[in-house]
Amino acid sequence: MSGFDPEWLLLREPVDHRSRARGPQDACSGYFGGFEQITVLDLGAGTGSNLRASWLHLPNRQDWCLVDHDPVLLAMARRILSTWACVPQADGEHLAFERSGKALTVSFAYADLRTDIERLIAQRPGLVTAAALFDLVSCEWIDRFADALTGARLPLYAVLTYTGNARWEPGHPIDARINSAFNEHQTRSKGFGPAAGPQAARHLAAALRARGYAVDIEDSPWLLTVDDNRLIQSLAHRIVQAVGETDLVPAEILAAWRGAHTHPVRCEISHVDIFARPL
Ligand SMILES: C[S@@+](CC[C@H](N)C(=O)[O-])C[C@H]1O[C@@H](n2cnc3c(N)ncnc32)[C@H](O)[C@@H]1O
Repeated sequence: MSGFDPEWLLLREPVDHRSRARGPQDACSGYFGGFEQITVLDLGAGTGSNLRASWLHLPNRQDWCLVDHDPVLLAMARRILSTWACVPQADGEHLAFERSGKALTVSFAYADLRTDIERLIAQRPGLVTAAALFDLVSCEWIDRFADALTGARLPLYAVLTYTGNARWEPGHPIDARINSAFNEHQTRSKGFGPAAGPQAARHLAAALRARGYAVDIEDSPWLLTVDDNRLIQSLAHRIVQAVGETDLVPAEILAAWRGAHTHPVRCEISHVDIFARPL
């Protein structure tokens, strides 16, 4: 189990969807422009948010395989997608439905990306995709992934990789110190060894370019306002928890920082999206 809180994933879903960068999304859509059918492998799929954001930009017939190592999240993905698609769910079987002129099937695969990534890529899907995953993995794993992906000459659409910057309005004098401690926490192992954290997207793009891929990369920041108050509160709480675990900031300073950001007007969290394809 990864311990990813489904409520956190569902809370961030609308913001994740509206934050996606147009460039890589259009490049991905354009790459499959002449295709009638596509198979899609979604790595670290969680509750299925990536499918719900991407399907409209892909060919008319789509066969998705949602992969995660958390059976609770996979079961939620199945439940949420059947409601979203208005189809009854049958345990152990894939979902099949039509929506807005597109026909989708969705299967759910329990797998551990630490050990199974080469096997998954060897199934040769048409597209490999992932949302909010690459900052969790190690640079070493990214290199392994890049070897497998480019060896099979498959395209990659990877969205919402955290790149390390947070900007709060109004700001506070210790914002930079908190952010730096948070980023230190982001590099702690999430099961794959030392996490690439804020360096992940740069490392991934460089690894793919070095293996002969063209890489479109564009900022996809969360731009949060007072309308996103629940997400902001949850985010601030998670930052305080993570920074607290680093022991890099005394508790009273951390409490003062939290107190200063109870009702921010704006908060920006940096991410990037990537579409990469073999040349
Ligand atoms: C930040 S969440 C993103 C979930 C989803 N893609 C989204 O955008 O809402 C990261 C996901 O990666 C999954 N994950 C983490 N480590 C994994 C591993 N070793 N094998 C498979 N999935 C893993 C988690 O269970 C979680 O669902």
